[in-house]
Amino acid sequence: MSANSKKPAVTAGDILAKKGKTPIVSLTAYTTPMAQMMDQHCDFILVGDSVGMVLHGLPSTLGVTMEMMILHGAAVARGLSHAMLVIDMPFGSYEESPAQAFRNAARLMRETGAAAVKLEGGVEMAATIRFLVERGIPVMAHLGLTPQSINTLGGYKVQGRDAAGAAVIAGAHAVAEAGAFAVVLEKVPQTLADEITAAVAIPTIGIGASVGCDGQILVVDDMLGLFTAFKPKFVKRYGNLGADAEAAIAAYAADVRARSFPAAEHVFADQTAAKG
Ligand code: KIV
Repeated sequence: MSANSKKPAVTAGDILAKKGKTPIVSLTAYTTPMAQMMDQHCDFILVGDSVGMVLHGLPSTLGVTMEMMILHGAAVARGLSHAMLVIDMPFGSYEESPAQAFRNAARLMRETGAAAVKLEGGVEMAATIRFLVERGIPVMAHLGLTPQSINTLGGYKVQGRDAAGAAVIAGAHAVAEAGAFAVVLEKVPQTLADEITAAVAIPTIGIGASVGCDGQILVVDDMLGLFTAFKPKFVKRYGNLGADAEAAIAAYAADVRARSFPAAEHVFADQTAAKG
């Protein structure tokens, strides 16, 4: 695709307008080359705090810092011209007060170029979402399995089964009314995701939710087979890049040990020989 035929930049309003019409495509990204590969295929790219687990080897997202998000956010921004850039607010950067959330959301946007932030929580975060939106910060909400709360949720379990679904529904209404432009639904029963999708006016973005959601998101390292420590049931592997990379590294190591790399085509003649 030539530079002139690139699609225009997606806004929060464009995402909102896709509700009930065109499925919204999104993936996480943490680096410039990956962002470049996704840019023309996705509607928005999330710099997720999953970066802590998939790229930094952390045991959960709780150890992710503002500095890590800014470093990866700025790298991803350099790879995008079409897809909207959404960035996660890390644990501890927004829960204390709307003012704390505004200060950190503004910093994330200023220092990365992100067009929106994502934060976890429902009814309890509605006032904060309203505060941010009223001050010019588009917010994507995140309900169901909210990984920053694993210590109170008791692990990475399906959320909102049976009677517990009422709290997720209440959360979805609260974040929509507060002005969020979309809501991620993670690891909730399909029927609950469908009910929320029908009930709220903002797009639902499913991950382990339902094909009936207004859009889908996956962690890129999961769907490419780059992150192999575990595979959630909701992940479909579209590639096995981790296995391919390890095979390539093993082949390189064998070549070096056998002195078959570098070969003649990889080395340089001295000037006299080159002229001759
Ligand atoms: O951090 C992340 O990658 C996310 C997605 C799983 C939605 O929040």
